[in-house]
Order: sequence, then C-alpha cells, then structure tokens
Amino acid sequence: MLILGIETSCDETGVSIINASSRQEKVEVLSNVLSSSLPIHSTTGGIIPENAAREQLKYMIPTLEQALKKANLTLEKIDSVAVTYGPGLIGSLLVGVETAKTLSFTKSLPVVPVNHLIGHVYANFIKTESNGEPIFPAIGLVVSGGHTDLILIKEHGKIKWIGGTRDDAAGEAMDKIGRLLQLPYPGGPHIEKAALSGRPGKFNFPRPMIGSADFDFSFSGLKAAVYREVNSLKLSPQDISDISLEVEESIVDVLIVKTLKAASKYDAKSILLGGGVSANQKLRETLTNKSPVPVIIPPKIFCTDNGAMIAAAAFYNYKEIPWNKIDANPGLHF
Ligand code: KG4
Ligand code: ZN
Repeated sequence: MLILGIETSCDETGVSIINASSRQEKVEVLSNVLSSSLPIHSTTGGIIPENAAREQLKYMIPTLEQALKKANLTLEKIDSVAVTYGPGLIGSLLVGVETAKTLSFTKSLPVVPVNHLIGHVYANFIKTESNGEPIFPAIGLVVSGGHTDLILIKEHGKIKWIGGTRDDAAGEAMDKIGRLLQLPYPGGPHIEKAALSGRPGKFNFPRPMIGSADFDFSFSGLKAAVYREVNSLKLSPQDISDISLEVEESIVDVLIVKTLKAASKYDAKSILLGGGVSANQKLRETLTNKSPVPVIIPPKIFCTDNGAMIAAAAFYNYKEIPWNKIDANPGLHF
C-alpha cells in the first residue's frame, strides 16, 4: 500500500510517500521531502512557534506536490494518509492535521493519526542499506529537542513508557547550552562539531541521575553547571570546544547507562534509537559498542523530523480514524 506521511509538529514541514507490503518487512521510501524554516530560527536563537507555523502554511502544499512528483504519483494512487497529531506546537500541528483532514474529505482517503514520538522509533523500520533488524521486545530511546523517553516495545502497537526527563530534554539542553556557548541554533550538531577539537578532562560537569534507581533523566542541572562555568570565564574558542566535549560526554554517558539498564531489566532483544539527538556520532558509536544486544539506529536523515517515519509508524500500527474525529493534541504522550 502507498502511504503519504505528513509531519509538521515542530519547525519542519515533511511529506513522504512510502510503499509498504508486509509487516514482516521494512517499508520502502519513494519520496521524502523536507522544507525547513531553520534559517529563520537561527536568527532568533530558537523557535518562535508563530514563525514556524507561518512558514509551514507557505510550505505545506508545495512540499506535498513535490513529494508526489518525486515519487511519480498522483493523489489518486495514494491509499492512505498518515499525519502527526501530537505532541508538538499547536500552530504547527494544525497545519499538517488540517491538510490531512482536507485530503480525506476531498479525496475520500483514510487518515491514520500518528504520535510523533512513536514515529521516531519507527524510523528504524525504513528500508536502508546499513540498518539492522529490530527484534521485540525492544527498548526504545527517543531523544529529541522536546523529548527524552525510554519505552518498552513488546510488539507493534504494544508500547509501555518506562521513564523520561523530569525537566529539559537532551536536545533542548544541547540547544540551550549551545546558546550559552554562542553557537548557532540548533546547538546539538554545533556542540558535536565543536567537541571534535575539545580536550578531555578540561571541564568536569555532572552526570545527572546516572545512578538513580528509575529510568528518568534530568538535564537542567547540567545546563546550570555550564552556565556557572561560562560566567566565570572569558570564553575562548578552545573553551567552547572543551566544554562542548564534556557536555556531549555527560549527556551520552547518562543516556547509555539508563538505556542499557532498561534493556537488561526488560530482557530486550534489541535497542531502537530515534529522534534528532540520535544523529550524534558519539551516542551512536558508544551505545553500539557497549550494548550486548543489537542497537538499531536510523540513518541521520531519518533521525530528525520527517514524513517517512510517520508513514512507517502508521503502517505497523494501522488504525484509521474518521477525519472529523481527528484533533491536533499538542500535549500527547505515550
Ligand atoms: O527530532 P528532532 O528533529 O525534533 C524534535 O522532535 O524535537 O530533534 C531536534 C533536536 C535538536 O535539539 C537538535 O539540537 C538535536 O536534535 N540534534 C542533535 C544532533 N542533530 C540534531 N543533537 C546532538 N547531535 C547531533 N548531531
Ligand atoms: Zn521529533
């Protein structure tokens, strides 16, 4: 079946068309188009929700048209529409949700609403050359700009939340720390780049909640520690690199310890990573090297927000909802 996936939960406008045939196989991406308003957010040092939604209104239809064109398809050939209905920014979510509802009303297409966080995990079910095979039960780690969550996936559709951040998400902490270090938005990829020339041991930041008995996280204390350090320094380019390295190591250490602990407790047969922060090379490599079970990580283009992961999540958890019963839900959790 051909599924058109729409993603507009934050600042990206993503539309993708996938071809899915069997739940035993991964899905094939026919097109994956992303329109980003990142340059605007770089100038404001972060996302102003109203700005993001205004850009998405402009991008939505051209992105949809481009995705169809790239896949050499027309709307008449599409079997189903998948759309992110939460969590996210309300104005942004509404752009995608209302587009999906309109497609359903005008073209009689079924709509499958998708939880964005589950979408990130299902980026691991996209057919690629390098990716391994997810095996259930699996532990999922969703690390993005808005979320840091550990979930137990017993099988498709059977997901249990086991822990998450009590304050800042890992990506959010990187973005805020990036700002303290005068790096461009979003901080995550810039911290990763700066860390490459960082010297180990020059700074010493906490690993918050690394030893706690639960599966929760907290990153606001790390941000506060960097704030204090930056305030006591005349920040040099080398300091920025050294601090970036220690911040990256602190976040990666905590994420890995908690994820491996969850995998062991729940006897997981694989670990599935997802979300923007899983584009981080140190996290990818260290978790893969330390884990006793296979670690499946999407290629970097499918780590950050995209329509293909939403279409994939819809296929494996297929549940059509009448268009007039679908509402954007910015506070949606698992
Ligand atoms: O999943 P995503 O695209 O959007 C949300 O759902 O939030 O994640 C965006 C987050 C941002 O916080 C960004 O700084 C972080 O992912 N990120 C990274 C990297 N690339 C993106 N963090 C660390 N290393 C990276 N290479
Ligand atoms: Zn996301």
